[in-house]
Amino acid sequence: MKVTIVGAGAVGASCAEYIAIKNFASEVVLIDIKEGFAEGKAMDLMQTASLNGFDTKISGSTNDYSKSAGSDVAVITSGIPRKPGMTREELIGINAGIVKTVTENLLKHSPNVILIVVSNPMDTMTYLVHKTTKIAKTKIIGMGGALDSARFKYRLAEALDCPASDVDGIVIGGHSDTGMVPLIEKAVRNSVPVAQFLSADRMAKIVEDTKVGGATLTGLLGTSAWYAPGAAVSELVRAIAQDSKKIFPCSALLEGEYGLSDLAIGVPCVLGKNGIEKIVEIKLSDSEKAKLTESAEGVKKTNADLNSVLA
Ligand code: 2OP
Repeated sequence: MKVTIVGAGAVGASCAEYIAIKNFASEVVLIDIKEGFAEGKAMDLMQTASLNGFDTKISGSTNDYSKSAGSDVAVITSGIPRKPGMTREELIGINAGIVKTVTENLLKHSPNVILIVVSNPMDTMTYLVHKTTKIAKTKIIGMGGALDSARFKYRLAEALDCPASDVDGIVIGGHSDTGMVPLIEKAVRNSVPVAQFLSADRMAKIVEDTKVGGATLTGLLGTSAWYAPGAAVSELVRAIAQDSKKIFPCSALLEGEYGLSDLAIGVPCVLGKNGIEKIVEIKLSDSEKAKLTESAEGVKKTNADLNSVLA
């Protein structure tokens, strides 16, 4: 499998590293606009091959998209990350134009590529790709929910004082500090609902801490996180590479599912060699449904800003 990652910054380079270490892709191409940056990151990563035991060939290019030709999957991380105190939505003015151009360049050389959108505001950037390209909606995947669910599981494991591998939980809705919907009622510790172990207050705190997981890290780091975003993307790419049929919450274009239409937002998706193989409509409680609908209203509000930005 050939994977192109546009944006050799912290998220893109972490993604390349995790893909290489998991050793399921034959080739990873890093592209960045900064002279020599992608080449340097690729070379540094290749120098870990003998240490980390991978065969993946990583190369870098300064804005030469011909190097991405024939990619099976392309990951769009380009654009600016947020600074402390910023919302993801505030990045739309700069990132929308970048994502549009990057997508055009990728499709020129890989018309059948599956696109994974990471750049923020991610749900709106994913919607932008749907609206400005003619590729199948199943080949446009927004990465947010996989990251948010990983943060949810971190908070659950922290509260339960158990390994993250012992918990399961999913976050749907918008990848936004206010719009995320961690499905706490459905979270389990080894198949046992977490309500059996945690107080209502503690579960509410887990939900709130999950929603601001990205902002918390931006406050600590002075910029957006990169390890967990990179790892989350690598798992989506692996599911496509291995045609795994695993379910991940991904930002997918909805056309009536969950009673929602004309937006991309985080919902459970079966991922396989064709990208989004299926959108899974899980049963939601009334309160979960209300939260998802409210989240969708928030995403649509940001989508409405696209026209002015792209005009
Ligand atoms: C995050 O939540 C970058 O949106 C990404 O860390």
